[in-house]
Amino acid sequence: MQESEHYKGREHSGIKHFLLESYLERLFMIVGQHERRICYIDCFSGPWKEADKNLSGTSITLSLDVMRKCRNSLQERGKSVEFRALFIEKGKQSYKKLDAYLKETQLDGITTEAMNGEFHNLRSEILSWCGSRDFAFFFIDPKGWKNAIEMPILMPLLQRHRSEYLINFMYDFLLRTHTQKPFQEDMQAIFGEIPDTSGMSPKEREDHLIQLYRDGLKSIPANSAGRLRSAYVSILDPVKDRTKYHLVYLTHHPLGIVKFMDASEKMDIVQKQVRAETKQNRRIEATGQHELFPAEIDPAIGEDTIDIKVVKDYWMDKLSDTPRIFQTEDLADMLEETNWFETNLQQAFKELADEGKVANLDAPIPNRRSKKPVHFKENERLQRI
Ligand SMILES: C[S@@+](CC[C@H](N)C(=O)[O-])C[C@H]1O[C@@H](n2cnc3c(N)ncnc32)[C@H](O)[C@@H]1O
Repeated sequence: MQESEHYKGREHSGIKHFLLESYLERLFMIVGQHERRICYIDCFSGPWKEADKNLSGTSITLSLDVMRKCRNSLQERGKSVEFRALFIEKGKQSYKKLDAYLKETQLDGITTEAMNGEFHNLRSEILSWCGSRDFAFFFIDPKGWKNAIEMPILMPLLQRHRSEYLINFMYDFLLRTHTQKPFQEDMQAIFGEIPDTSGMSPKEREDHLIQLYRDGLKSIPANSAGRLRSAYVSILDPVKDRTKYHLVYLTHHPLGIVKFMDASEKMDIVQKQVRAETKQNRRIEATGQHELFPAEIDPAIGEDTIDIKVVKDYWMDKLSDTPRIFQTEDLADMLEETNWFETNLQQAFKELADEGKVANLDAPIPNRRSKKPVHFKENERLQRI
């Protein structure tokens, strides 16, 4: 993660950047094995007004740094990959800063370009800049939703083949506005319908809204690359126990879902630690009293903690007495359906196997894989006993 001092007071941005960085690393190293060129498009790039002239703690420097590192690592493995990066920014002053930074930062094998204007007006230019052959990753990180994350606005990008997307779904704004009359048209454009969440608990409402949004995006008519898959991760308020936004990820590739959820799991651990530290710092600021022990993760924050019994029941439903091959695609389906991490599924399978309820017919005997009893990429056969 970039230096934590850059994130003081906006720790959630640090978490978002951690996820972006760790997913991009995985993505570029995989895609770079077979692509000669990779495009990266930051559709709402900033920099924020307060960013220094080195643009520290921004998605701009972070993404360029990942491209530089991955290009070097790929080169060491005999793969020569060229990166092209495009940054879109509406603000005149921010654009100037961005443009100046890109002009004075020359990186071997990475060409950069900045466009000044509004994302929705620039969509065809963005798509022509991408061309039709290269793999492209779109980062869509606006401050609100208008002319940004609605289905009709995203449709042309989502219909591009060989593309992946990470979209900031501003949950705390949408939670407040989705029931308000003046915003009904906007809500229709975002969700494909006006969400009715009356009578729902806060958790049900959150699950419903994010599911509706993901389903809407996935319902956009498929391109030649086939149907879109999606997963998401929640970025919480640094101190209050509530969601600030969700990062919604879209891909055509099952392995994308697996790698994204892997990056999300790492982020989840960092997020818990950062929140515990931020809460401790706020307590110290408020009381003037230093605390003897380092901040500890509060296990009670785990409204998101997954009940292993529920995961075990889910496995039992998936399996039958007839052996069935489980491959990466099945893992992606399960992650997409539940938004659990692979670790949750592996741990539940292990417990069921120890209880003699399920078996992996292709695991070595004895099965010493204590953390990953199922190797999905090896197409192993699983069954209920
Ligand atoms: C949330 S900030 C981006 C933060 C950046 N992605 C990061 O993580 O460091 C959103 C940026 O988009 C810019 N912006 C707002 N509306 C825009 C639009 N319609 N088109 C392009 N940029 C826009 C804002 O000026 C702001 O700099």
